[in-house]
Amino acid sequence: MTDQVRIENNGGILTLTLARPDKKNALTDAMYGKLADTIESAESAESDPATRVILIRGEGDMFTAGNDVGEFAAVAAGKSEGSRNVVRFIQSLARCTRPMVAAVQGRAVGVGTTMLLHCDLVVLADNAQLSTPFVSLALVPEAASSLLMPARIGYARAYEMFALGETVPARSALEWGLANRVVPLGQLDAEALALAQRLARQPAGALIATKKLMRNGEALVAQMNAEGEQFGQRLRTAEAREAFTAFAERRPPDFTKLA
Ligand code: COA
Repeated sequence: MTDQVRIENNGGILTLTLARPDKKNALTDAMYGKLADTIESAESAESDPATRVILIRGEGDMFTAGNDVGEFAAVAAGKSEGSRNVVRFIQSLARCTRPMVAAVQGRAVGVGTTMLLHCDLVVLADNAQLSTPFVSLALVPEAASSLLMPARIGYARAYEMFALGETVPARSALEWGLANRVVPLGQLDAEALALAQRLARQPAGALIATKKLMRNGEALVAQMNAEGEQFGQRLRTAEAREAFTAFAERRPPDFTKLA
């Protein structure tokens, strides 16, 4: 099991910490696997009646730089079949009925932002920056964000985030309904924990029933499957190879010569 995701359970609050700060908490297949295993088993009331709330956070100066670009590049180059665990992870988010709280500092790129659409309370540090640059990487939105993002913030803003890779600063994210609170960086963990503790004191059965009424997990999984089909195809294109090679070579990509 990877130690790049740390799991702690205190007072009914299951904290998942992304702990790969030297790589900006970029998510690997192994990390997705551990996240998925943990959320899936927390969802099973028999195996884990103790989990009342799930709190997700990242170590270091940013929440996460999103999917590990090296793992994407290996698929684009035909050297890997790709991550199976990412599918389990995003589906576990769609199906999670326990309340989820996120604490986000610095950048939240790609899945770092789209996973927030599955969290019930999102606390941003004042330096948070959300972005979903899928098209810039020659990919398409995932984690049901093609459905959830326009529904949450409107088509115009969502399209700009997806198609142009626009970065959304904390204050705008709050204004647009992507977050519940913006707090000074030094107060981020305390604020997120305080909210998680408040949720943990609420009646767990009523919280679960409310979340089930507010979200249709199976419809989200269906959207994820449709996105996944496109995503898998786009990952194997010349456009994607150019995007990942450019990242590795620390230069801007040039898509203009590709049809
Ligand atoms: N996958 C793999 N490694 C990543 C990564 C990612 N998504 N994001 C950052 N890293 C690595 C860098 O390669 C670098 O590794 P090195 O020290 O071995 O060279 C290290 O993390 C630090 O990153 P760096 O780019 O130097 O940090 P920064 O603060 O200047 O920039 C970002 C941070 C997030 C803006 C930049 O790293 C970035 O754009 N990352 C890619 C984000 C992305 O496209 N994710 C996929 C979304 S679908």
